[in-house]
This record gives sequence, structure tokens and C-alpha cells, in this order.
Amino acid sequence: MKKGKVFSGVQPSGALTIGNYIGALRNFVGLQDEFDCYYCIVDLHAITVPQIPKNLRKRTLDVLALYIASGIDPEKSTLFIQSHVPAHSELSWVLSTITYMGQLNRMTQYKEKAKKSEENLNAGLFTYPVLMASDILLYQADFVPVGDDQKQHLELARDLAERFNNRYSETFKVPEPLISEFGARIMSLQNPESKMSKSDDDENAYILLLDDSDTINRKIKRAVTDSIGEIRYCDEQPGLKNLLNIYSVFSNEDVESLVKKYDGIGYGKFKEDLSEVVIEGLKPIQEKYLQLTNSKDYLEDVYKKGAEKAAYVSGKTLRKVYKKIGFIPK
Ligand code: AMP
Ligand code: TRP
Repeated sequence: MKKGKVFSGVQPSGALTIGNYIGALRNFVGLQDEFDCYYCIVDLHAITVPQIPKNLRKRTLDVLALYIASGIDPEKSTLFIQSHVPAHSELSWVLSTITYMGQLNRMTQYKEKAKKSEENLNAGLFTYPVLMASDILLYQADFVPVGDDQKQHLELARDLAERFNNRYSETFKVPEPLISEFGARIMSLQNPESKMSKSDDDENAYILLLDDSDTINRKIKRAVTDSIGEIRYCDEQPGLKNLLNIYSVFSNEDVESLVKKYDGIGYGKFKEDLSEVVIEGLKPIQEKYLQLTNSKDYLEDVYKKGAEKAAYVSGKTLRKVYKKIGFIPK
């Protein structure tokens, strides 16, 4: 039987956080055996905010190395860089002609970004979700593992697939989001009301996958909790709830047993232990990453082979689309 397909992407717009790891990367790993997986580094998306070219180059390779260091095996999954496969931009144009302005206007991520950069609102920020839909639909993906913040974008991808299929006959698979119930939204350590983001101005808000142990200790020590002083898992203590989620992921212990374990024990000791669990959990990833950044040839080999396979698979879909629209085959 043919394996189902999985597609997901991460932007090389900053160093990755434990939010990216818990909400996305970690889940990518477990899908590799059962599905034909495509994991993309979405550099075209990243330039919707200004990037320094030298940094973008480095971060693109960093994301590739972190994909592999987190356990994604290039022998099993296809790893590639979005700009290496022109079909993504090409399909994006086509899909933009069947996307309604109103749909894009309603995207919360756009609205938030628009608020932040009112003076320099570029059209790419607005059409960003159309490019994302193209990424997914080109590979006929069945499932898209993402964090909770991408749910609305995925709805658009489904909607565009259905609209195109209705207009031109069955062409695209309608993809399903794969959002893990747990850890899909890791919050800022400084403001548990907003998500942990690598583009946060306050570096104490996030933990990076490549943070050293002193930095992790310091950031967790400074993480916002509350004045209740008891370890419980509830919405009234959002900071603590977030820390318990992180603890649970890195220790593989469920939240309930953690709450029991820390019953009557103060936040100080809890945070100390949490730091240790996170540091230990990230250690193998960091070691593998260091090894990989010294093997540039290997990384190049991976992304070149990945692009070849991705171009082949996406090319088939794009040709079909062009034909159905009425473009003359070349
Ligand atoms: P991005 O960094 O925006 O390219 O996101 C890459 C992936 O990480 C997407 O699937 C996001 O949904 C996921 N992600 C980003 N931040 C978080 C977070 N704080 N909690 C959970 N998942 C996240
Ligand atoms: N928009 C996603 C994010 O910011 C990244 C992304 C781009 C993506 N294309 C994708 C995720 C396709 C899943 C599938 O997190």
C-alpha cells in the first residue's frame, strides 16, 4: 500500500525555540516511518520580514542541521529549501487568483504583524498564507503537523484545495492539520498570555534550542509565575502551567505526576529541576548540531537531493494544475 504524505515547514527567520521543537519538530520525527514526509525550510516566507542576507544564509543551514539533530533522518524524509523548488512560487500565483481578499484580511497572524509594522506593510505578509497553501498542496499532503498558531492558515489551504477542485475537477488532496493536543502552544516565559516566539524583543521570553546551560538556568529562574506559591496545573496560574507543560515534554512524565511530586515544594526547587531537565534534553540535539555544522558538504548533499525529489513530486502537481487551467503545455 502507498504511504500517506506529510508536509511541514519552518521559517529560517531566527534561531529555533523550544516552542518550535515541542509544537513542531518533535512531532515530525515520529511520523517518518509511517508516512512519506517532506520537511521544508521556508526561506521565501522568511523574507516577508526584513532579513540580513548573511544571517538568512546561516539560519537556513542551521534549521536544516536542527531538523537532522532533532532526529529527522534524511534517508527517510525529504529535507529541502523552499526557494530551490520554483513550483512553490508558481503555484502560489495561481492560487492567489482564487483567494478572496476578505479571507486574507481575516488571518490573525497577518493582523498581528500588520499592527507591529504599520509603516512597512508589504504585500508578501498579506499573501503569505497562499504561499503556505501552495507548499502543502503541491505534495498532495494528507497531514500537516504544526503548532496551534497555524490552524487558520491550514483552513485556508483546505478551502483553496476544495475551491480549485470544484472549479476544475479533482486535483488536490484536501490536507488535515495534525496538532498535538499537548504542547501545541508553548507560551512566552515573560508573558504567559502570548506564545513563545523567536522574534520576541525580550530574549528572556524564549529558550533557544542552542542556548547554553547558564542561559537556560537564568531564563527559567526569571520566568514569570504567580504569588499563589503552590504547584498546580490550572488556568489561574498560566505561567506555571506553561512550565509544567515544558517539564512534562522534556521529562516524559505526565503533568499529574509532576504536580504530585512537587506538592508542598516551592517554585525555586521546581525551576531548578526544570532547568536541569531542559538542559539534559537539549544536550544530544546540541551535540549533533555542532557535529553537523562542521559537515557542510553533508548538509549540501542533503538539501540538493531533497530539492531534486521535491521538484519531481511538485512538478507533477503543477503540470496538472496548468493543464486544467487551460495553459498550453510546453
Ligand atoms: P515558525 O517558527 O513560525 O516557522 O514555526 C515553525 C513551527 O513551529 C510551526 O509549526 C509553528 O506552529 C510551531 N511553533 C512556533 N512557535 C510555537 C510555540 N510557541 N508553541 C508551539 N508551537 C510553535
Ligand atoms: N507558516 C508556518 C509558520 O510560520 C511555516 C510554514 C510555511 C508551513 N509553509 C508551511 C508550515 C507549510 C506547514 C506547512 O510556522
